[in-house]
Amino acid sequence: MAKDKKSVFFCQECGYESAKWMGQCPACKSWNTMVEEQISIKKTATVGTAKNRTKTEPVALSKIKLGEDERISTGIGELDRVLGGGIVQGGLMLVGGDPGIGKSTLLLQLCQKLSARDMKVLYVSGEESLRQIKMRAERIGEFTDSLKLLCETDIGHIIDCIEKEEPKLVIIDSIQTMYTEEANSSPGSVSQVREITGTLLKLAKSTGIPIFIIGHVTKEGNVAGPRVLEHMVDTVLYFEGDRHASYRILRAVKNRFGSTNEIGVFEMQSSGLTEVSNPSEYMLDGRPDNASGSVVACSMEGSRPIMIEIQALVCRTNFGFPRRTANGTDYTRVNLLMAVLEKRGRMNLSNSDAYINITGGIRMTEPAVDLGIVTAIISSFKDRPVDNRTVVFGEVGLSGEIRSVSMASQRVKEAAKLGFKRVILPKSCMRSVKGEKFEDVELIYVSDIKEMIDII
Ligand code: TYD
Ligand code: MG
Repeated sequence: MAKDKKSVFFCQECGYESAKWMGQCPACKSWNTMVEEQISIKKTATVGTAKNRTKTEPVALSKIKLGEDERISTGIGELDRVLGGGIVQGGLMLVGGDPGIGKSTLLLQLCQKLSARDMKVLYVSGEESLRQIKMRAERIGEFTDSLKLLCETDIGHIIDCIEKEEPKLVIIDSIQTMYTEEANSSPGSVSQVREITGTLLKLAKSTGIPIFIIGHVTKEGNVAGPRVLEHMVDTVLYFEGDRHASYRILRAVKNRFGSTNEIGVFEMQSSGLTEVSNPSEYMLDGRPDNASGSVVACSMEGSRPIMIEIQALVCRTNFGFPRRTANGTDYTRVNLLMAVLEKRGRMNLSNSDAYINITGGIRMTEPAVDLGIVTAIISSFKDRPVDNRTVVFGEVGLSGEIRSVSMASQRVKEAAKLGFKRVILPKSCMRSVKGEKFEDVELIYVSDIKEMIDII
């Protein structure tokens, strides 16, 4: 090995650095993720010396002027919502997700919207050839000449191009295919990904050009996961969903310029992604009529209430140990709720298997869906269907009490809008919905799970 290089081990999940190989990463506890990389010692020794330090001066807050176009609307409502109202100038955004989920499609559609408004956009792809991008673009629709494509993996050349073209937005598809000569390891390795993100960050902050970076999420293999750069970027968006189903959910995991609990819902069609502006209707599509064990619950995703169907199947255990599974929600939470039903509701569930499923493949972890899970279990156990036009929400406590949840009146309003006739909600929410009038909706207040069992 040359003298100016040394060998270190990086965790591909979280970027932890170590001089030795280890089976388990001490930082993120994942197994078999440490991979050897060569880094140059010379370079690290020169960082921070007086010669290459940039000269910046302290400024008073009042001297900083904000322009009128600090945020650029993307023209895609669901994307704007997740970004917190649009793209911020000079922001560095990471879009992560499994391969094939639709990241390139979403960002190409973003390019289409912006270039239609005569904004210069540069789409850099290290994955596809110009003709492959053209084929994708043909499916999406018309593009103007404001969109420029660049197939390149050398970040130095890309930076030169950006400085020459001065676009209003840059897309890097994907970070794992890019390389820089500054780091000696192969593209996709932790040191490459870190180095390139650092370069892009500097560029975005100094020029004010917002940059979107696409990153694949990988459990194994030799590409670094987006975890490694999460702390460097301003915004981390994850694009998720079942690859076999057509809807996709865009979620903000980190956002320096907005809230992180908003979600955007899209549907993948033959002509690209379309926005789903009313996800509840979409999620409830194809619900069975009067089936026991099925109930509609309401969860707040950011500022928007979403109705979801919770299904439970409770049946007798055939072999000694009862089986429980939870799909779309927390498994331990389901076990806990069943223990509460057993002890406080006097239901004998110890000889029952239970399978819980949140339909639509969406994951719901808000405590307000507790009451929905409990209701579905009771309904399936007693084999009594819950009325089709009923919505339930509320948090269940360990003593079997039903606790209040936030934004109760918004949830009831959404239920009324979708044509539900009955809402079962915590008694303690009475105050927050008191003053409001809801037409055609009957409100039923419950204070503990015994009352809930009696209602069903
Ligand atoms: P893509 O954006 O290439 O995924 P990623 O960049 O996250 O790897 O999306 C690819 C999938 O989307 C592929 O399975 C085909 C499908 N698709 C459509 O169904 N309709 C379309 O109009 C397009 C462009 C893609
Ligand atoms: Mg892609």
